[in-house]
Amino acid sequence: MNETRLVTRRMADHPADSHTIERYEATGGYSQARRSLQMGRERLVELVKESGLLGRGGAAFPAGMKWSFLAPARPAYLVVNADESEPGTYKDRQLLERDPHQLVEGIIIAAVANEVHHAFVYVRGEYARPARRLQRAVEEAYGRGYLGKDIFGSDYDLEVVVHLGAGAYICGEETALLNSLEGHRGEPRLKPPYFPAATGLYGKPTIVNNVETISNLPHILELGADGFRKLGHPEDTGTFLFSVSGHVRKPGNYELPHGITWRELIFEVAGGLREGRTLKCWIPGGASAPWFVPADHLDLEITKDATGRAGSMLGSGAVVVMDDTTCVVRAAQRIVRFFAHESCGQCTPCREGTSWLEMILGRIEEGAGREVDVDVLLDVADNISVGLAWPPRMTTICPLGPSAVSPVSSITRYFKDEIMAHIHQAGCPLR
Ligand SMILES: Cc1cc2nc3c(=O)[nH]c(=O)nc-3n(C[C@H](O)[C@H](O)[C@H](O)COP(=O)(O)O)c2cc1C
Ligand code: SF4
Repeated sequence: MNETRLVTRRMADHPADSHTIERYEATGGYSQARRSLQMGRERLVELVKESGLLGRGGAAFPAGMKWSFLAPARPAYLVVNADESEPGTYKDRQLLERDPHQLVEGIIIAAVANEVHHAFVYVRGEYARPARRLQRAVEEAYGRGYLGKDIFGSDYDLEVVVHLGAGAYICGEETALLNSLEGHRGEPRLKPPYFPAATGLYGKPTIVNNVETISNLPHILELGADGFRKLGHPEDTGTFLFSVSGHVRKPGNYELPHGITWRELIFEVAGGLREGRTLKCWIPGGASAPWFVPADHLDLEITKDATGRAGSMLGSGAVVVMDDTTCVVRAAQRIVRFFAHESCGQCTPCREGTSWLEMILGRIEEGAGREVDVDVLLDVADNISVGLAWPPRMTTICPLGPSAVSPVSSITRYFKDEIMAHIHQAGCPLR
């Protein structure tokens, strides 16, 4: 199955220099930013609405609709979320490193569409190379008059600041990101009233969009709304970057339309499993997502709605594949440990509950588990995410706490026998 390349086309065609301004302009770059200045806010917002573009940061919120919610007060800000810390997700890194001018052009379009004159890109602290590449691209764009005062010879001013975070997962949550950008602790804000489009950075109206969302904008202008829609599935338009990792032969980022099946993604696109191994389960949308198993989900169509109806999410597109050598207790413990470590600590169910879940899973994995531990796990999980429902019914300020529940509800649902085998054999049956 071939990829449908849009945001990764230039890096595939010109791997040696896709990040340079020379290559970018030689392949049509910045022509859509120029056009956007002629189009103005209303036409741009309408175009992005009609294109059906959904945000690629995890929540899949319609981008055009978000833009139309932006409060009229000014100044307003655009913030690009390049914090990319969801375990398994590594697509924004590739876009930043290998096509940073595409992002800069998308920023110009989004800024014009929202009548914004200051944009920030918040880059994950560990992404030193992507941040350097982006910083250089921004400087080159300033140098050619595409950023700064009177961009492209118009009377429109646009300043862009690249800001490196300190490497905290929670700063990917948009309101924690805004707090961090303002110089405060990276802690999510209570909502309402702090929806960024109404009250965001420095209390002003703010659009927060993901790197991949913004990188799609030059293509939407070039193809038109219909052209963009046609590339994808009627419900989920355009392309989607899947970061496939784990026990597949060909892990990597794949740009594909929605609507293919999980079987096609894992066995055709990602090359299937290692010799002699069988598929045990996979995480369809990053560590926060409930897991899928072959018996129930392999032939399911990959769309936002089909995945949601099946009790999970596509999130930011991180697909983690596990074969029959995987101990699910250990895998769940590892993921829960991540969330426990990254909890900002504001909410008791998250701060205490994630550590409890990690401790109980560790006890089971090490052979000191008791039969009652399955119920204790579920009880603690229920205190974080009531009823273990999907989407989660939260007791917390942000979805990080409930994210730690996903691996627990997945293994208790699909792999209870394996958990009990750990308990009865006083250790991991796979070791
Ligand atoms: C715990 C947590 C972590 C998140 N991490 C990221 C991230 O690393 N990158 C990102 O774009 N969105 C992340 N999000 C989603 C953002 O809050 C926000 O919805 C997104 O940046 C909006 O952009 P989009 O509409 O273009 O998807 C995270 C959300 C939560 C709750
Ligand atoms: S759920 Fe966890 S990470 Fe989110 S605000 Fe509460 S304590 Fe912080």
